[in-house]
Amino acid sequence: MNKKLKNILLIIVACSFTLSACSKTKESANELGLKDVLGNKFLIGTAVNLDQINGRDALGLAVIKKHFNAIVAENCMKSMYLQPKEGQFFFDDADRFVNFGEQNNLVMTGHCLIWHSQAPAWFFTDKNGKDVSRDTLIQRMKDHITTVVSRYKGRIKGWDVVNEAIMDDGSWRPSKFYKIIGEDFIKLAFQFAHEADPDAELYYNDYSMAKEGRRQAVVNLVKSLKEQGVRIDAVGMQGHVTMDYPNVDDFEKSLLAFSETGVKVMITELDLTVLPSPRRDVGADVAASFEYQKEINPYTDGLPEEVQAAWEKRYLDFFTLFLKHSDKISRVTLWGVSDKNSWRNNWPVRGRTDYPLLFDRNYQAKPIVQMIINKAKI
Ligand code: G3I
Repeated sequence: MNKKLKNILLIIVACSFTLSACSKTKESANELGLKDVLGNKFLIGTAVNLDQINGRDALGLAVIKKHFNAIVAENCMKSMYLQPKEGQFFFDDADRFVNFGEQNNLVMTGHCLIWHSQAPAWFFTDKNGKDVSRDTLIQRMKDHITTVVSRYKGRIKGWDVVNEAIMDDGSWRPSKFYKIIGEDFIKLAFQFAHEADPDAELYYNDYSMAKEGRRQAVVNLVKSLKEQGVRIDAVGMQGHVTMDYPNVDDFEKSLLAFSETGVKVMITELDLTVLPSPRRDVGADVAASFEYQKEINPYTDGLPEEVQAAWEKRYLDFFTLFLKHSDKISRVTLWGVSDKNSWRNNWPVRGRTDYPLLFDRNYQAKPIVQMIINKAKI
């Protein structure tokens, strides 16, 4: 083949690739995002990690901008990162998170002010390493909450004020906050947050909320706060679900019970693992940890078709529930953008391959995204 003809052929091939890429880009630009079809029902959000907050994850940022209208920082606003030492605050990442949210017109949630986990050790101990007094811990809570919430006053729509304070059976979690201050630590945390930003929404957030014991205890907590004149706007049902727990009816019972107290309901950390759990009822207790065994990491090379189909049905069952109660639900947030970002790959067993989110490891929308869009358009 002579050189001239070869060059002409190469130009034709190059143009056809460019045209198909442009048509894909154009197509994807025209395709509706999740926020386009869900936006008038509830906020649809995602947790964002440091790579996304610091602009290092361009693919993740593209998905966030196309599909979501709300964000929450997965980790950088937890007290161990914001105030690692008493009086020494580190706001760089949190500031970038808030600036990113404002620049992209994303509704922001602050996660989380008071949590027994990921709190710095100094919070609870005096200079001799002993538990601090009740008054000291209350003052430390107040200083932390006031400093953090007032810094972002008017910029963050709402705060997970207290996270995971109640056990599966409805008893108080025996955290240092509870043991040193008593159950009033919750009321105080909400009051301090409200004083720091009177217009911010305030939320109680927890996992395994379909459990009857926790459901009733959260209902009692919301009623008690309201009776004491304390502002609480919503209950966050985290939504870390598995293929067989919880059943959707129990999840719905809790959703309705929380709504009947007069607050909004939020699905705050939604993900759906396909991996076998090393122990039943492990919930989402971040402290849980189990030895790696090959047989509980069965999908290292992708999901078999039948597993993928069951996973899609389960996700759709939950989104069908959310759409049915969109008048009660103000936000649904996925706990991460892409499968590769998910905490589920390393919890409660490190080094597994999970598929819990709506976008795959190449940040491509899984078929479930279009299934949700089609369901929402009905
Ligand atoms: O960034 C460091 C990295 O520099 C270091 O090399 C590495 C060593 O392990 O740790 C990295 O920090 C980890 C961080 O995630 C960022 O990846 C922490 O160890 C790890 O504990 C932390 O886990 C987070 C977990 O909360 C505890 O804060 C998960 O990402 C996060 O998804 C998870 O989210 C919680 C919610 O906040 C509350 N509800 C339950 C949910 C799941 O546990």
